[in-house]
Amino acid sequence: MAKSIMCIVLTEISLVALFHICICYQTNECTSTPSLSPQFYNSSCPKAQTIVQSFVAKAYSNDPRMAASLLRLHFHDCFVNGCEASLLLDNSGTMESEKRSVSNQDSARGFEVIDDIKSALENECPQTVSCADILAIVARDTTVITGGPSWEVYLGRRDAREANLKGSNDNIPLSNSTFESIVTMFNVQGLDLTDVVALLGSHTIGNSRCKSFRQRLYNQSGNSDLDQTLNQNYASMLQQGCPISGDDQNLFALDYVTPTKFDNYYFKNLMTFKGLLSSDEVLFTKSRVSMQLVKLYAENEEAFFEQFAKSMVKMGNISPLTGTNGEIRRICRRVNHVDV
Ligand code: HEM
Ligand SMILES: *[C@@H]1O[C@H](CO)[C@@H](O)[C@H](O)[C@H]1NC(C)=O
Ligand SMILES: *[C@@H]1O[C@H](CO)[C@@H](O)[C@H](O)[C@H]1NC(C)=O
Ligand SMILES: *[C@@H]1O[C@H](CO)[C@@H](O)[C@H](O)[C@H]1NC(C)=O
Repeated sequence: MAKSIMCIVLTEISLVALFHICICYQTNECTSTPSLSPQFYNSSCPKAQTIVQSFVAKAYSNDPRMAASLLRLHFHDCFVNGCEASLLLDNSGTMESEKRSVSNQDSARGFEVIDDIKSALENECPQTVSCADILAIVARDTTVITGGPSWEVYLGRRDAREANLKGSNDNIPLSNSTFESIVTMFNVQGLDLTDVVALLGSHTIGNSRCKSFRQRLYNQSGNSDLDQTLNQNYASMLQQGCPISGDDQNLFALDYVTPTKFDNYYFKNLMTFKGLLSSDEVLFTKSRVSMQLVKLYAENEEAFFEQFAKSMVKMGNISPLTGTNGEIRRICRRVNHVDV
């Protein structure tokens, strides 16, 4: 409805815009919401993307894993009330931070990098670039810097005035979620099975703690068994650093072959039953359609990269705040005006 109205409005302005929006409407392959645009800051803060990119490069050279940690923040933001930087709000007064949710606690990291980027952008162009847009640009730049595809980032999101801890607990799948519940949780956000498989390809970089996959090694179905979809040798190797109890925080590469390179080894690993998380391996073992996508991306990195870029834009379009909704935070960790 909203999109078809947009078509009529744009008819009077530009044929190029009409063409774009109508294709988008008819084929349902929307890669942009009309309200977000790659040129959003071109006149208000032309250096915005260059500044973000330089901070990403610096953070990555200090700590290569930071690329992965920062990429993950955009996902954990977008799945909770849309891409509106609710994830970045700290606990305070009545604010219950999402940083305390099951998925984020002791796991989400990179918030100081976002603080530094925000502060540089506030110096350059005060109260102009939203924290939500910073997360979206950072997600693209971290993908590129680790060897992955690039895409035009749609911009113009505004920041939320509230966090949703319960939403963070309920909407972000866990490493032991079933295939069905993972797909359902993505569908709720308007993402389909192709998006699920492509986006999980971001587990080609970064780490997981032992506690996130221990169940697979020692007690997969409650009778002291090894997950049958886990390669025996790989499991033995994991058990070395991830004992039956303790060492919860020990880190393991999500992609053991090329842990810091954004490539398609994640999918090749799934095909040899060497996916680290249960939620990874189920893409290959629980559905024929999903298995075919894993095979495709394992054999054709270009196909993976192309779909990953599309799916990232789609994820970035989840319920943005635009127009006069929300605000442009001055500090990503807190809202501008706190009611007393
Ligand atoms: C079914 C969906 C998903 C599940 C169950 C899941 C689960 C996880 C878990 C358990 C970890 C390790 C956390 C830890 O132990 O500290 C992790 C890490 C990571 N996830 Fe996901 N994830 C999902 C989807 C995604 C998506 C869609 C993205 C990005 C688009 C993403 C990006 C990452 C990255 C880059 C890391 C490594 C972070 C680091 O090294 O700091 N994940 N994920
Ligand atoms: C807008 O800015 C981006 C990033 O700086 C640049 O790549 C793009 O060419 C600009 N677009 C226009 C229409 O000026
Ligand atoms: C999955 O993991 C969560 C958090 O670690 C735990 O509370 C839950 O009981 C687990 N679910 C299953 C089915 O094992
Ligand atoms: C394995 O899981 C079952 C069911 O969740 C539990 O009763 C049992 O104590 C667990 N065994 C070990 C060794 O943790």
